[in-house]
Amino acid sequence: MCSISLSVFAVIVIGSCTVIESFTPHCTSSFGWIRNPNNCSEFWRCDFGKPIPMVPCPSGLILNNQLHVCVRRGGQYDDCDQGPSNKKTVAERCSAGEQLIPHESECQLYYNCSLFYDFVPRYFEQYLDECRYPNLFDSTTLSCRPYKDVKCGRLVEHVSPCEYRRGKCGTSHCQPCVATCTGKSNGRHSHENREWSPFYVICNDQRTIKVDTCSKDETLNIARLFSPITNKCEPLYRIPQSRGGLAPACVQNGLFPDQGGRCDIFIRCENGVVAEVVKCPSNFVFDPDTQNCRSDTEFCGTCGRLCKDLP
Ligand SMILES: *[C@@H]1O[C@H](CO)[C@@H](O)[C@H](O)[C@H]1NC(C)=O
Ligand SMILES: *[C@@H]1O[C@H](CO)[C@@H](O)[C@H](O)[C@H]1NC(C)=O
Repeated sequence: MCSISLSVFAVIVIGSCTVIESFTPHCTSSFGWIRNPNNCSEFWRCDFGKPIPMVPCPSGLILNNQLHVCVRRGGQYDDCDQGPSNKKTVAERCSAGEQLIPHESECQLYYNCSLFYDFVPRYFEQYLDECRYPNLFDSTTLSCRPYKDVKCGRLVEHVSPCEYRRGKCGTSHCQPCVATCTGKSNGRHSHENREWSPFYVICNDQRTIKVDTCSKDETLNIARLFSPITNKCEPLYRIPQSRGGLAPACVQNGLFPDQGGRCDIFIRCENGVVAEVVKCPSNFVFDPDTQNCRSDTEFCGTCGRLCKDLP
């Protein structure tokens, strides 16, 4: 169809011949709205997935796609011509046959036209889905890919799991938002709010790659906690007692027995800190008097008491 529109502004006469593409509405949601991408005055409402034509907006008005009311053409709510890609709503692009559509501002988000929420989760909208942290949506391959392989261009690239929508709890799709690595160097760091615990995070490119826990110290056969001072898992003997550890105060240099009742362990203090934690060979225990590991056959019951010293 060819329509001629003649507009007269003072003495200027504009003539244009526009080919109007035909548009067939398809409902992608049970009760959505569909605006004719070729004529923003025309729209349909879906009734259980069936498009029902609505009375078009009066002359000079168009349907605003967000507000779903007729607004003045050219006015502040006119969203009819917003560039070629923004011109259509996601629902319109889905009806036009697109499957996966990158989000317009955040790199981890995308629209999946095959996805339909009966109840849109909090922080989401219809068709909106999110790559698993820390993946990002690759607009070239239209898939979620490892962040290192994705170029986000002008889109916002979130690095913290808390900035991903699923990290913002309160949704049924919530993945608990864990310690962030924002501003931290690559490697291990203590878990914020859980310092001096067995928990720590592994950071890479400011992303929280993993939340892990310290394993026990196999040699000393004792638990370890993550020290924010050394940024390492440390056996309880190197953790201050004020932080739940067993480190001696080390007010003087020397060898000290374990304070927790283990007879086979001794600790060497040097310059106010634990310099060394030593386990005696098996069947040997530490004797504080001689500052040596001695055969446990020389000891009677209580730790550190030689049989010959007992009454
Ligand atoms: C758009 O649709 C309205 C209502 O159907 C119609 O009056 C108007 O002429 C159409 N505009 C164009 C450019 O076809
Ligand atoms: C899109 O949604 C469909 C239906 O839920 C699902 O099977 C498909 O895996 C989704 N695709 C992506 C890339 O998320």
